[in-house]
Amino acid sequence: MKYVMKGGIPLVGEVTVSGAKNAALGVLTAAIMADETVTVENLPDVMDIKVLLSAFEEIGVAVERPSRHKARLNGANIFSACADSDNMKKIRASYYLLGALLGKYHHAEVALPGGCNIGTRPIDQHLKGFRLLGADVSMKDGKVILDARELHGAHIYLDMASVGATINLMLAAAMAKGNTIIENAAKEPHIVDVANMLNSMGASIKGAGMDVIRIKGVDRLHGSEYMIIPDQIEAGTFMMAAAITRGDILVRNIIPQHMDAISAKLIEMGCEVTELGSAIRVTGKPNFYACNVKTLPYPGFPTDMQPLMGVCLSLAEGTGIITESIYENRFKYVDELAKMGVDAEVRGTVAVFKGSGILRGAEVNAPDLRAGAALVLAGLAADGYSVVNNIEYVLRGYEDFDGKLRELGAEIAVAEDDRDIHKFKMRVG
Ligand code: UD1
Repeated sequence: MKYVMKGGIPLVGEVTVSGAKNAALGVLTAAIMADETVTVENLPDVMDIKVLLSAFEEIGVAVERPSRHKARLNGANIFSACADSDNMKKIRASYYLLGALLGKYHHAEVALPGGCNIGTRPIDQHLKGFRLLGADVSMKDGKVILDARELHGAHIYLDMASVGATINLMLAAAMAKGNTIIENAAKEPHIVDVANMLNSMGASIKGAGMDVIRIKGVDRLHGSEYMIIPDQIEAGTFMMAAAITRGDILVRNIIPQHMDAISAKLIEMGCEVTELGSAIRVTGKPNFYACNVKTLPYPGFPTDMQPLMGVCLSLAEGTGIITESIYENRFKYVDELAKMGVDAEVRGTVAVFKGSGILRGAEVNAPDLRAGAALVLAGLAADGYSVVNNIEYVLRGYEDFDGKLRELGAEIAVAEDDRDIHKFKMRVG
């Protein structure tokens, strides 16, 4: 599938941000640790969530969908701690089942995680933590196998502040015997969301959102009702969209402090950013200025926003440098931007953008989820028509992306083939 679009229209209006995909993946997995019904609200309607829920059903979780943004889960009748279906292999967050099943059943067999190809993405820190909690770890037929007679609390120091490892170890330790301390924990908003969710189910987790998380294991987790936080990265995407298309967008349903790193950079580049309670307004300017950015764990500039910043810098005045410090393979989109006339050079984990103020419409390929969204915004700022191929990546993580962009005035449509593209061009003119 593709998006076809005609660029050059400043995006103006209001957009409401959906629930956070990455938080939802952790929260839903936590939910299956109870033998009672858990209701999760504000779920984003995106492919990764659908795939995870299908994978849950395959191991016996009862899943009800009373509405598009709500799920009711009950993990009482899970009949297998082995999750290695094709669904599991499709998404990165399948690895949360390791922590959840190990915590609940002391046994887990999960296919090695998939997800975007943005680097080597090892899970050694997850496995180190599981071992310290008392699990034997082995690999067989592409699966990680965890087995423990008993799980006990442990003192775990993470070599790097890994989001996935922090969540996975919180899940397992929530039902281990005794106290666990996770040091050098990741502090991303979704860590706090998953901890809050577990606490709402009767867990005892303190310090989420800080460097040290303390967990007192409990014997059982109970049912709960939980509302997912807004998606920080989706919000950031629309904030950047205002800058990139020189538009004016009110982004609703956000938690302002989650947006600080992004707001700071937009202001530094000369955009206007106004916080209005749970909304934020970004007013783009005809001319804005390059800056330097280094991706860092939260509260630093998010790696997931990096490709969007790359598009911003392609349009800014002056030379901007991005240093990617989380993933080594996250600049594949720069070759695609070159097709739109961008002058940028990648050397290892550093990319230098010589902003030109203009982009040319072109046919480009989305290399991963966030880079896909960035290329769409580039197309909306470019002269003439653009086509972004492989939008399956984008659909994994953005709810109704093209619909929300159209509400802001964008000329964009989903296309299956050249005929659809031709029809779009005839209609838009
Ligand atoms: C999560 C997000 C992803 C985001 C990333 C960083 C989900 C589903 N995905 O991914 O969108 O880009 O956080 O904010 O929430 N590392 C190791 N060993 C480990 C674990 C991680 O070396 O055991 C390295 C990784 O290769 C990477 C860095 O640590 O260089 C951060 O990874 P991590 O925070 O774990 O990212 P994910 O949880 O995979």
